[in-house]
Amino acid sequence: VAERTLVLVKPDGVRRGLSGEVLRRIETKGYTLRAVELKHATEELLAAHYAEHQGKPFYGPLVEFMMSGPVLAVVAEGEGVIPGFRSLAGATNPTEAAPGTIRGDLGRDWGTAVQQNLVHGSDSAESAAREISLWFPTLP
Ligand code: CMP
Repeated sequence: VAERTLVLVKPDGVRRGLSGEVLRRIETKGYTLRAVELKHATEELLAAHYAEHQGKPFYGPLVEFMMSGPVLAVVAEGEGVIPGFRSLAGATNPTEAAPGTIRGDLGRDWGTAVQQNLVHGSDSAESAAREISLWFPTLP
């Protein structure tokens, strides 16, 4: 299989009507959409997805935020798509994210306990495989 990554448009992005804009940036960059689904994440799914953050001070607020509305889950494919999407997304903190990136162009600090930063992208091949199987268990 070609390289794949899991992208999530988080509830803040979906609420603000930015799902299409995020998909557009993925597609115009040249990556292929393999799966796109609007999902209401369960606490169990998020506990598995964010296993590495359990115990951190922002974990509870993060799970709460991720359950505050639907999430657009996306599998994007293409050579280099894992670092490529992270570069499209920009720095985790939207205040610091460079203009030209999704978070830099479309995000800001809303003064909440969790950084509402519009999108998630897998950070490694191992994370991508794990996250894709969590969000799309039946995807071939
Ligand atoms: P992401 O990298 O997708 O996964 C973890 C999320 O936790 C991250 O996006 C932010 O939304 C949030 N996050 C990470 N670090 C912090 C922090 N220091 N304070 C609040 N939220 C954070």
